[in-house]
Amino acid sequence: MSVVIVVGAQWGDEGKGKVVDLFTERAEMVIRYGGGANAGHTLVIEGQKLVTHLVPSGVCHPGKSCVLGDGMVIDPQTLLEEIAQCQARGLLSRGELLVGLGAHVILPYHKLLDALREDAGAKIGKAIGTTRRGIGPAYEAKAARKGVRVRDLMKPARLRELVLANLDELSPLIAHLGGQPPAPAEIERWIDDALAAGRALLPYTGDAGRHVAHAIADGQHVLFEGAQGCLLDLDHGTYPYVTSSSTIAAGACQSAGIGPTAIDAVVGITKAYATRVGAGPFPTELHGDAGDRLRKAGGEFGATTGRPRRCGWLDLPALRMGARLSGMTSLALTKLDVLGGMSEVSVCVAYTVDGKELDEPPIDPDDIARAQPVYTSFPGWEKLPADARDVSDLPGPARAYVETIERLAGVPFCLVSVGPDRTETIRLHDPFA
Ligand code: IMP
Repeated sequence: MSVVIVVGAQWGDEGKGKVVDLFTERAEMVIRYGGGANAGHTLVIEGQKLVTHLVPSGVCHPGKSCVLGDGMVIDPQTLLEEIAQCQARGLLSRGELLVGLGAHVILPYHKLLDALREDAGAKIGKAIGTTRRGIGPAYEAKAARKGVRVRDLMKPARLRELVLANLDELSPLIAHLGGQPPAPAEIERWIDDALAAGRALLPYTGDAGRHVAHAIADGQHVLFEGAQGCLLDLDHGTYPYVTSSSTIAAGACQSAGIGPTAIDAVVGITKAYATRVGAGPFPTELHGDAGDRLRKAGGEFGATTGRPRRCGWLDLPALRMGARLSGMTSLALTKLDVLGGMSEVSVCVAYTVDGKELDEPPIDPDDIARAQPVYTSFPGWEKLPADARDVSDLPGPARAYVETIERLAGVPFCLVSVGPDRTETIRLHDPFA
């Protein structure tokens, strides 16, 4: 038996969907453990695209057990739409999905508040650039011990009491931020919709923590699918420009309710370059034509919001920090093919701040924002052979690039992705082995 956690090693959007999909061939259970519909996984199966926000990327393998852990914040309408979308493709029709009854629920007022805060922040240049999916407000309610959980969707009186109590507190804030507090009829509709969603979700709900623990005790191969990336972690990321959950490997244990001693391996996913969505420091960001070229080549537009992603060179100090925070035992390098056709490819090997060279980002985001990247450059290479199945199949400069990253990151690669399809992959090591 092996228990493997997959985490994003950067600021999210590292191509986790494809890697989780590949690893799911070996896993019997896949668990999403944090965040909510702020994530977006684009899966390409036999040339067909499937985008999921809540359902784990492992869904594409019929018969594998998919779990949404208690640490998540779940938008019930989005989840129901995704279940329907999967079932229309013949997936999730055999009772493969289990939604934790302890997970928190995102309701319309969480999304309203998220959007109003962002709009107010934008006016003074302080927006976080959230996905506006209500993630922060739902986690705030959870921390304040006033949140609505999935189990509350099945208890009409309790749900009503919670929603009314929350809105009693939040309506003045909504008005203060320039919004229209919901009228009683609208609140009633929200409650009715939530109860209807609860009835529809009931067959999928259960005790996620025990379900996962039993699978591990039974000796199953279990895969935890992280969302976002290590540098967006609430505690250790580039605060305040972070999400509101734990995105590092430890978050998997916390969310699923299992101990760290159950974990056998942690795989970090890093793109061959870097992207970031929303505000916050990004030392290797490329502006103008160079950034546009990378964005176009990599199709770097948010799967959830459609926003253009900020693009830049691979940042090894940030990658080392992600590797340290999550205790990564191996790395998967994705989207190497996107760099094909560039005249030159660079990688940031260190930062300088006030004349001092640093191998990891400084602790203060203001210092990260003014850090100067120290680059090593490689001659570019032509399009990668799509049938590359070994590092030795790569053109010389691409091979040198891969080997340099592996050496300077200090974590071995288990996989290099050379194209979007499942088959376009160099497999070096099986994390479940
Ligand atoms: P929130 O999670 O919607 O509150 O957004 C907080 C920050 O995390 C923003 O900068 C978002 O762009 C970023 N973020 C949240 N989810 C993702 C993701 O799945 N990929 C990349 N960035 C994300």
